[in-house]
Amino acid sequence: MTDDHLSNTEPEAAFQERVDNEIKIEPKDWMPEGYRRNLIRQISQHAHSEVIGMQPEGNWITRAPTLKRKMILLAKVQDEAGHGLYLYSAAETLGVTREDMIGALHEGHAKYASIFNYPTLTWADVGVIGWLVDSAAIVNQISLQRTSYGPYSRAMIRICKEESFHQRQGFEILMPLASGSLEQKAMAQDAMNRWWWPTLMMFGPHDSESVHGAKSMQWKIKRKSNDELRQDFIDQTVPQAEYLGLAIPDPDLKWNEERGHYDFGEIDWDEFRTVVSGNGLCNRERLERHSRAHREGEWVREAMRACEEKKRTA
Ligand code: 3HC
Repeated sequence: MTDDHLSNTEPEAAFQERVDNEIKIEPKDWMPEGYRRNLIRQISQHAHSEVIGMQPEGNWITRAPTLKRKMILLAKVQDEAGHGLYLYSAAETLGVTREDMIGALHEGHAKYASIFNYPTLTWADVGVIGWLVDSAAIVNQISLQRTSYGPYSRAMIRICKEESFHQRQGFEILMPLASGSLEQKAMAQDAMNRWWWPTLMMFGPHDSESVHGAKSMQWKIKRKSNDELRQDFIDQTVPQAEYLGLAIPDPDLKWNEERGHYDFGEIDWDEFRTVVSGNGLCNRERLERHSRAHREGEWVREAMRACEEKKRTA
């Protein structure tokens, strides 16, 4: 039975009324199968993104310029692991297992955010990721705090509390670089040039190309569309870049008084499709690293299962 056919049934109408009245949907509530599947897709991919996202920044933990920066970066990367665990737990309330989700990732059936398939070439990249990528994540996740599914909404509320630290520590890395020596300024600007457009791609295709957008908005899984979120991010980030003295690599970027927003250039959707389809600069490396860590961690899961079994049979 397709989702559309269900749209005239009693339960579906009652479900939509709950969503329209801002009543959170909880795991034990009736929900359309399409709603459940869409949530498993989005929440599990969100969780994969958090965990894979540990790799680019983790690459610099041993090379942070000071002990203080190393400790801050360690804390930030550790937070991302925790975000992944909250989100996997939220997805599990929909009847999917952790093994299913990890298996889907390793077999290439599940995605993670394209942004994490770019290399972190200099220390300035760590600053730009914290500042730009976490800002973009915050714009999206603040909106998702109002998602209709209770466990996802509560996970977002908790995660957003930590994201502002992530964004601030990135901005703080960039401040001395952007006002430092010519080499430091050049390093910060180079990172800005390489990360600006991939960050805009985090918000997904244009609304007109979005596969899930319409249904996700009707069911209030998403509260703002891809293009709305992207525009919010650009509008709030341009003044910050100006404060840092970093140029945004978009000759078409300019304030549009009539719209009350910044106009900006066209995203390279060929690059987006290349990265999302697994052929970006670091896709293979990221997945191999994740699979290897998963294999090497099997003994921990085995020990946990043995403990559970022992408790169960005691
Ligand atoms: N990277 C990879 N895949 C992407 C993508 C991106 N930037 N943007 C879209 N896609 C995929 C979608 O997953 C979908 O593929 P699927 O059907 O196989 O899942 C397809 O492209 C079509 O896109 P849609 O617009 O139809 O998909 P959505 O409605 O799901 O919108 C989204 C995409 C805006 C990313 C939405 O899924 C979302 O808001 N997800 C939750 C937030 C999230 O996952 N953020 C990722 C970053 S997490 C992060 O940054 C952590 C921080 O702490 C650093």
